[in-house]
Amino acid sequence: MSSPALAIQLSDAEMRLLQSLVYHECGMFFDARRTHFLRDRLQRRLRECRLDSFYSYYRLLISAEGKQELARLLEDLTVNETSFFRNKAQLELFHKLILDELIRKKEAEGDLTVRIWSAGCSTGQEPYTIAMLIADALAYHQLRMPHSAATTWPKPLVPPPWIVEVPASDINYSVLRAGQEGIYSEHQMASVDYNYRLRYFDKVGERYAVKKAVKELVHFDFHNLKTEFLPQRNDVIFCRNVMMYFDEAEQRRLVDKFYRCLVPGGYLLVGHAESLLGLTDKFAMVYRDSGTAYRRIEESQ
Ligand SMILES: C[S@@+](CC[C@H](N)C(=O)[O-])C[C@H]1O[C@@H](n2cnc3c(N)ncnc32)[C@H](O)[C@@H]1O
Repeated sequence: MSSPALAIQLSDAEMRLLQSLVYHECGMFFDARRTHFLRDRLQRRLRECRLDSFYSYYRLLISAEGKQELARLLEDLTVNETSFFRNKAQLELFHKLILDELIRKKEAEGDLTVRIWSAGCSTGQEPYTIAMLIADALAYHQLRMPHSAATTWPKPLVPPPWIVEVPASDINYSVLRAGQEGIYSEHQMASVDYNYRLRYFDKVGERYAVKKAVKELVHFDFHNLKTEFLPQRNDVIFCRNVMMYFDEAEQRRLVDKFYRCLVPGGYLLVGHAESLLGLTDKFAMVYRDSGTAYRRIEESQ
């Protein structure tokens, strides 16, 4: 075994093998601009595993005993940057247009369950933002209803008989654990205004804990977007800043899966630097004040 201090050579052939294994496992594609990052993370894993060649490392990853190491490598390769209320223009569109329309439609149909999936949720800021916005929208809707005064005290976060579900999924177990914990530093709270801090968080020492009632709406779970077993019957899917790490073929497959995971007329929201343009003709773009979303097109339309 060689000294861990020395970087072991990664040949082009080994790089191609590992690149294609990662792509096959999770859809992440490392083009020329990102091979440096991949190389660095592979070196790190090789040292941790105390192996002396990348080929041995590859053999470990494809073996039955290597499942845990494969999960660990994928964790090391994900970029988990996120924040509360990310992309305000898009959230404004979600709140004022999509949620408003959704609540009216659900009420007219007598189906009072709202399900909004955060796919690639990282440490939870996105699904908790969604939960807070739905709670706000339902409270406002209730207020506008005639005869809305009679209610129990303290007011429930979600007015009965409404049911809100926010499935939140990721491929990285560490971020899922952090999301489940739901405790954030002052730095992570920078984009949360005082109104939201007061209503939806408890101060715990120097940090902020998401209130139990909000946590109860969000269900964290492991899902690899590369697979077919994904949460179904969603009214809206947020998959922001995830597809940008996939190649075009994988993006097309994913968008097709999202189509099937949405209810008729459901919405898909992607990241600021992402677009469905050229990937599909099954969604129509909705645009308002520089916020964008995509609406599922139905065959009859
Ligand atoms: C940059 S973060 C985006 C977080 C959040 N959606 C946002 O926009 O703030 C991307 C997340 O996608 C997750 N991810 C990457 N590939 C994935 C896959 N194949 N399946 C599920 N999650 C994946 C990563 O682990 C990471 O947490």
